[in-house]
Amino acid sequence: LTNFPSSSEDSSVNFSRVAIAMVAIALAICLSAFGFYRFQTSDPYISQVLSQQGEVEQGEQIFNLNCAACHGLNGVGLVGPSLEKVSHRKSQVALINQVISGNTPPMPKFQPSPELMADLLSYLDSL
Ligand code: HEC
Repeated sequence: LTNFPSSSEDSSVNFSRVAIAMVAIALAICLSAFGFYRFQTSDPYISQVLSQQGEVEQGEQIFNLNCAACHGLNGVGLVGPSLEKVSHRKSQVALINQVISGNTPPMPKFQPSPELMADLLSYLDSL
């Protein structure tokens, strides 16, 4: 009752193995290219910030000292725009860059440690 495969079935099995191997190799190349791309673009400072769980209360203190003069208490807006729901409009990376770049004067360039930046981000997320 054993069902030996005919020779034509045999070659189709071989073909599908080759196809699977080719797909696997293609996938591996794509994944490593993606990993390399991520490695190229991810700034170590940004990945350090994003790897931490910030504390909202700590972030609020930093905000009140450094940002509230322009953005108002609770980020309601003053000289600088309102930051209410800003994290719905901007990505975490965009928010970090906004704070550290100094690209949008008169907003100055800040250089908080990754810990403090993570705290600040969690405060901005709460607005
Ligand atoms: C000297 C005033 C000033 C200070 C201090 C300041 N900002 Fe700003 N900020 C601005 C101005 C003005 C803009 C608008 C810039 C633009 O888009 O041209 C802005 C824009 C932003 C934006 C983008 C808002 C949006 O809707 O896209 C974020 C986020 C932000 N500030 C966060 C902060 C944080 C966090 C701090 C404290 C670490 C801070 N700012 C301190 C003046 C200030």
